[in-house]
Amino acid sequence: MRTDTGQVFRLEDYRASDYLIPLTGLTFRLSPGRTVVIAELTIERSDAARGNPPLILDGDGLKLTRLKIDGKSVDPSAYEASSDRLVIAEPPNAERFQLLVETEIAPSQNTELMGLYRSNDVYCTQCEAEGFRRITYFLDRPDILSVYTVRIEAERAEAPLLLANGNPMESGDLGSGRHFAVWHDPFPKPSYLFALVAGDLGHIEDRFVTASGRQVALTVYVERGKEKLATYAMDALKRSMRWDEEMFGREYDLEVFNIVAVSDFNMGAMENKGLNVFNDKYVLANEETATDADFANIEAIIAHEYFHNWTGNRITCRDWFQLCLKEGLTVYRDHEFSADQRSRAVKRIAEVRTLRAHQFPEDQGPLAHPVRPRRYREINNFYTATVYEKGSEVVRMIRTLLGAEQFRQGMDLYFERHDGQAATIEDFLKVFEDVSGRDLSQFSLWYHQAGTPNVAVKTAHNAATQEFILEIEQSVPPTPSESRKRLMHIPLAFGLVGPDGKDMPYSDVDGANVENGVIHLRKRRHVVRFSGIAQRPAASLNRGFSAPITFSVAQRPENQFFLARHDSDPFCRWEAFNALQTEALIAASRNAFGGKAAEFKGELVELAGAIAGDETLEPAYRALALTLPGEADIARDIGTNIDPDAIFAAREALTIAIATSNRESFSALYAGLRTEVPFSPDAASAGRRALRNTLLDFLAALRDGAPLAASHFKTATNMTDRAAALRVLSHRHPGSPEAVDALATFDARYRSDALVMDKWLMIQASTPGPGAVDLVRSLLDHPAFSMANPNRVRALIGTFATGNQTGFHRPDGAGYRLVAETVLALEKQNPQVAARLATAFRSWRALEPGRQEKAREALLTISAASGLSTDVRDIVERTLA
Ligand code: TRP
Ligand code: ZN
Repeated sequence: MRTDTGQVFRLEDYRASDYLIPLTGLTFRLSPGRTVVIAELTIERSDAARGNPPLILDGDGLKLTRLKIDGKSVDPSAYEASSDRLVIAEPPNAERFQLLVETEIAPSQNTELMGLYRSNDVYCTQCEAEGFRRITYFLDRPDILSVYTVRIEAERAEAPLLLANGNPMESGDLGSGRHFAVWHDPFPKPSYLFALVAGDLGHIEDRFVTASGRQVALTVYVERGKEKLATYAMDALKRSMRWDEEMFGREYDLEVFNIVAVSDFNMGAMENKGLNVFNDKYVLANEETATDADFANIEAIIAHEYFHNWTGNRITCRDWFQLCLKEGLTVYRDHEFSADQRSRAVKRIAEVRTLRAHQFPEDQGPLAHPVRPRRYREINNFYTATVYEKGSEVVRMIRTLLGAEQFRQGMDLYFERHDGQAATIEDFLKVFEDVSGRDLSQFSLWYHQAGTPNVAVKTAHNAATQEFILEIEQSVPPTPSESRKRLMHIPLAFGLVGPDGKDMPYSDVDGANVENGVIHLRKRRHVVRFSGIAQRPAASLNRGFSAPITFSVAQRPENQFFLARHDSDPFCRWEAFNALQTEALIAASRNAFGGKAAEFKGELVELAGAIAGDETLEPAYRALALTLPGEADIARDIGTNIDPDAIFAAREALTIAIATSNRESFSALYAGLRTEVPFSPDAASAGRRALRNTLLDFLAALRDGAPLAASHFKTATNMTDRAAALRVLSHRHPGSPEAVDALATFDARYRSDALVMDKWLMIQASTPGPGAVDLVRSLLDHPAFSMANPNRVRALIGTFATGNQTGFHRPDGAGYRLVAETVLALEKQNPQVAARLATAFRSWRALEPGRQEKAREALLTISAASGLSTDVRDIVERTLA
């Protein structure tokens, strides 16, 4: 682990490299404790170089064992090799020369899971963002594109399978039990896309014929015995490949495409050219072990990594400040893919829920940063919801601005103009300016300015003049390092919903540029007048969530109820009901804070029943609408002086109020949605399961609800239903004989399946109430838990810290202390995962004073520790600042 040096990287300091590495040859002699890496680099002086500058290669924890220039050993006085760099003060004064660098590394000692490491006895690599420098000395920056040829040598018994990027070239025996394979990737790529996998794995294979007739061999490698669990991933891969051809005209470009699932992985997956490496959680699935949410995630992540082949690999990033160039765009593409494969409306609502749950708190707290940041201390900490999810929203807005056709023209131009390059956000915006003739400079603030804009709207109707008036005002709250904000260009899709539920036509509009159902806000304040409107409409605003903003509309409650029943835009219809629920929950939590009982409007409770039974709506949509805003969502909307216990009480009260008055209809509906056999993971079937499990959650919240949940658990024929029942039992009836029994049954049945046991850990870690701290502490010693595996840590500690508001925020600070202790223990092994866990504290200033003080104390214990990693120090210092 590297300790913090305090160094800050700035966008404006970007300089092209003095040297290029057009060709890279790598030889690996694999051995767990001592792997030899020989890098043969063709080095060229770049146009940027002046004179004969020193060659400075990046390293991280490396040991140099050999160095040659143009085949001759280099005198030790001519270079300086430390663990983190190799400096050759006076390289040959020639156009190009050959550098041979030999290093020794120990994959089995690599607990950070960056560089070359071992997972379940398989050698694998993770190089993004700066892991390649843990393998060999290199110009480890994304604008250095090189053609790689890789030779792997290993013991055949230990590693019969030898994979790297590109196409297989050659393989053979080396005698004494060793063998080799050579891979060549013809596409120049940055070092962060390098990958190697070697081990003994099972696989499934298939073929894909591209639109132009190229044959591609597809293989998914998994742990032996798990081959059958990879079929859904393979199917998702083929659908992704077809979709990218049809929607973006993008074909695959190598002879093979390999996916490897590994058990120890810091993130979801990695798009290495031709050799994607996945967290096994996002590959392995069948009905017995995976939930519908798991299937949807697998489909989305397989697509995401595949789509990177063009948006990320063929066109990569000039520097890490441009991360959203590949990530935001690729998330946008995987969102569109899932919307096409499943239900567009349901997908959009789910996206918005995720954005609000993860990106809004980031944007509204101490870790706020622009989609394209201008500075960082640790790049690993910038793989954030802002870069990914808000980055995707910005691309979606470009499409809204230009329309589908011009957007596609812009993307075509992007691929044509920048293929093979390391590009910037300016390059990306320029293609859309060029195809549309629009000026996107005000719009580009979405990339450069942090913070969630707020749009406040007042509505008025003048019957005499037949005018409907929207008074719209935008503001962007200050964020760290940007106190003054500029006005944004906000595309606000809208409709004026008439009494018959249909959108009303208007004869004229004045006060803002309105085109194709979108109001373009560019100024602080717009007064938009629609004429020819005889009756007061309900204003349906930010349709489809056209802009990632917070919104306050002064609209009559009856209009909100009306929209919740009738809006033709499914997102706004969901949003109207969601807003009504949120408002009621905020009021109830204020009452709970003051010790008063909650009261809810009959109309709200009744509307929940009406939505549940509305056969014109998809079951998945109904399930989403019935899912009350989460405790963290309510907290965010309250904003300050948060008491998580009061919010929890309010949410419980509304759940019980809805369940009590809709008991009969919910029971009948529940009974009608019997488990479907045989199982199918498709969206419609998943939607019916989601609705049934949501109804179960309400019915089981009633005092006598445990037996129903217990029977749901016992009769479950798939993991979606089984996990849902286990959650309901252990959260709604903790400690009940039914809950205790179900937890024990689950443990006994799945003990040997770590991924399934993660669900068991997650459900317990999110048990509401003060008891969760001790429960989580005791589970640290359970055989299903391991601090060395990121999935286990996220399941137990991550879930506790971010998915258990009443547990983590226990008033005495015990939850904060537990997480702080874990961050400190974990960072010695894996600083990247530890830093991510530490972000759980980011909203601490919104808490009521007592908890704020306890959270601050916990943060201070972390920051007081000596020798902190850059990763953790960066997060903790920004959080405390
Ligand atoms: N580029 C990867 C993706 O979005 C994610 C990624 C970045 C990653 N850094 C990583 C994965 C480190 C694992 C470890 O698809
Ligand atoms: Zn990505």
